[in-house]
Amino acid sequence: MKDLKANILKSALPNHIAIIMDGNGRWAKSKGKPRIFGHKNGVTSVKEIIEGCAEIGVNYLTLYAFSTENWNRPKLEVKTLMALLVSSLKKELKTLQENNIKLNTIGTLYNLPEKAQKELADVIEKTKNNNRLTLTLALSYGSREEIVNVIKKLSKKVVNKQLDIKEINEKIINNHLYTFSLPDVDFMIRTSGEKRISNFLLWQIAYAELYFTNTLWPDFRKENLFNAILEYQNRERRFGKTSEQIEKLNE
Ligand code: FPP
Repeated sequence: MKDLKANILKSALPNHIAIIMDGNGRWAKSKGKPRIFGHKNGVTSVKEIIEGCAEIGVNYLTLYAFSTENWNRPKLEVKTLMALLVSSLKKELKTLQENNIKLNTIGTLYNLPEKAQKELADVIEKTKNNNRLTLTLALSYGSREEIVNVIKKLSKKVVNKQLDIKEINEKIINNHLYTFSLPDVDFMIRTSGEKRISNFLLWQIAYAELYFTNTLWPDFRKENLFNAILEYQNRERRFGKTSEQIEKLNE
């Protein structure tokens, strides 16, 4: 593990990592346990991955904790997931403070139970001046919903003559996304063997490297993260340029 970490190049770290944490249910099922047992163990992975990112110097970590589609799960599972969120926030506030981690959220938070909204607002307020790592939880988040929301906001500004259609560009769109304060995603990870994006940060991953692993989320720990980052560092990111142009830039 020490070797793994030592091999990571500090100068080529992904600035923003986004993760689709998938496979909690299957992990629990393989152990003959209820799905929520998987979510509970998933929280331990969340903690390790946050710690791992902070340790090596990743600046932004965004986790897909609850999608707009997840509301369709059995009522009891939704309720337990929300309770798990509240208890984790309560338990981890101290660690976030000690490690200088700032909490942020994206999604339609007003759909969450009041208790969860209150707890989130409290932790966001208390960690707002932290600056080592920005941890963003995507909650009741869907990328298409986010884009629809941007279109509504911009249309309103155009109708109210606060904005001219000619002024609309990528930067303006970026500034109206829930992720307005975050940089583009450099590296997106999905666990559990599914090779889909599932409506997560569609705009923001335009140039991201994608990484799919069969490991189920509750088994995805620091070592797995470091291995993924090492693979990221072996890829060449060209942003539409040729290899020769990139080599020249790096000279
Ligand atoms: C995907 O596994 C996981 C989720 C939908 C929820 C993720 C939530 C946590 C890890 C815990 C709470 C989070 C925080 C930030 C405290 P799945 O249920 O889709 O698994 P399956 O595909 O095997 O059924």
